[in-house]
This record gives sequence, C-alpha cells and structure tokens, in this order.
Amino acid sequence: MVETRLIDGKAFAETMRARLKDDVAAFVAETGVTPGLAVVLVGEDPASAVYVRNKGKQTLEAGMASIEHKLPADTAQDDVLALVRALNADDAVHGILVQLPLPAHIDAQAVLATIDPAKDVDGFHVVNAGRLAVGLEALVPCTPLGCVMLLKDTLGSLAGLEAVVVGRSNIVGKPLAQLLLREDCTVTIAHSRTRDLPGVCRRADILIGAVGRPEMIRGDWIKPGATVIDVGINRVAGADGKGRLVGDVAFAEAKGIAGAITPVPGGVGPMTIACLLANTLTAARRQVG
Ligand code: GUN
Repeated sequence: MVETRLIDGKAFAETMRARLKDDVAAFVAETGVTPGLAVVLVGEDPASAVYVRNKGKQTLEAGMASIEHKLPADTAQDDVLALVRALNADDAVHGILVQLPLPAHIDAQAVLATIDPAKDVDGFHVVNAGRLAVGLEALVPCTPLGCVMLLKDTLGSLAGLEAVVVGRSNIVGKPLAQLLLREDCTVTIAHSRTRDLPGVCRRADILIGAVGRPEMIRGDWIKPGATVIDVGINRVAGADGKGRLVGDVAFAEAKGIAGAITPVPGGVGPMTIACLLANTLTAARRQVG
C-alpha cells in the first residue's frame, strides 16, 4: 500500500487569490486602472449559472470589476456577436469570457473567434491555442493551467516524466498536453478510441482524467506512486437519493495506489477561477502596457 497524499486545490487556490488581490491593488495604485472581467451567459443552464455567480463574486473579492451579461436562451447569434464586439471595444473590459456550452443554435467557434485574442482570458481563441502550441506568449486555458500549477507544487520539476492525458477536448485535454510538453514531459493523449486504455494509463507517472465519465479510470489503471489529477466533475445519484459529485477517477480505489491525487470536489475545480483571475490581471497588464 502506498500512502496517498491529497492535493489540496482549495487551499492552493485560496493562497493564489490572496496574492492576486495584493497584485491587483498594486496594479491599480500604479496605473489607476481597475482590471475588468466581462462574463457572458446565454440561457439558464443551472451549472453554468453557479459558475458565473462564483466567478463574479471572486472577481470582486480580488479587487477587479465584474461585468455580467445574462442573455435569454433564444438570443440570436448576431446579437451575441454584437455584444462581444462591444466588449472588445470597451476600455474598461480587459477580459471576456463567454460561458460554454452555448445554446445549440449558436456556433460557439464563431463566438470564440470574435473575441479579441488580447482579452481572451479563457485562452480558447485559435490565436491563443496556436501561440501556446508554438511556444509563444499566450493566454492559457484556466483549468489546464491550474492542473500544471498543482503538479509542479506536488512534484517540483516535471521534466522527463511520462504524462497520460485521458480526454482530448479543446478546453482541457489538448491545451493541457501542450503545457505538459512545455514542462518537458513525455505526453500521450488518450481517448475513447485508444487501444488498451488501462495499459496506456499504467505507464503514467502523471495521469490526468479529463473525459467527463464518472469514475471511468479504475484503481488498477494507476501505476503505484503515480500523481493523479482528476478534472472530472460528474453528478451521480448518491445512496441517499441526492446527487453527489464524483470525478473521472474511482477515488476510493486510487487511494493506496496513487502517490498523490486531487479530490473531487476541492481539487482542480477551485484552481480554474483562480487562474481566470490571474489571466485577467495578465491581460490588463498587457493592454495597459
Ligand atoms: N464551461 C465549462 N468550463 C468552462 C470554462 O473554463 N470556460 C468557459 N467559458 N466555459 C466553460
């Protein structure tokens, strides 16, 4: 049995936000500019509404301005694009985030492509994805950034380690693989069509679950002592009939095998908003010069 260390993302994110608050105050004192984050929510997806509320609250707590635009689910795509263009042109707005998923009648790629890359604090614009891929300065997607911060805090240098990312989304899997490559890991992106997924996972010194499938990654897929980062947040029916949150990793099985693991909730989740706030300050610094 391995003694499994819990990676406390909640505590790490709190420390990060406290430091950020000081950095924001120093920036405001120096420039007279308050960094502003605009969040656009289309429709009434309950999970998205919770995220947006938390983002707004934590933006204000960090000393930044929060601008929220909540639009009805049947808003026309052209109206969403017009709003994004207005936010691009607004000097009080340094970061723009359009909450995903968008309603089915809206082309998410068209909306993301309209965001000024300099204000793209989600790092989803193809310019930022491309800049990350070729090693240029970019705004980097928040969840992958948070994962790498937790990994470096847990392991120190990641150079030479085998990293397996299970999941190939544009939001998490692909940008996370790029970041791990930048840290000199040997990176594999695995997915639903991967042959012998358990065997591929067992090679990993760093194993990332980012597929959105509850407890898909079993304990015996984990190399003893590996560091496991669980990006999944899946609501499943609990024994008491109420919902409970589980990750993509079977946590109870992983304990005693993994060297360290992020819990769900309280692991990667809190890091995402902390990184969003950090990206907003970074974007404001670059825009104000
Ligand atoms: N929906 C789920 N995660 C995210 C995220 O990181 N950014 C945006 N914009 N939408 C999301």
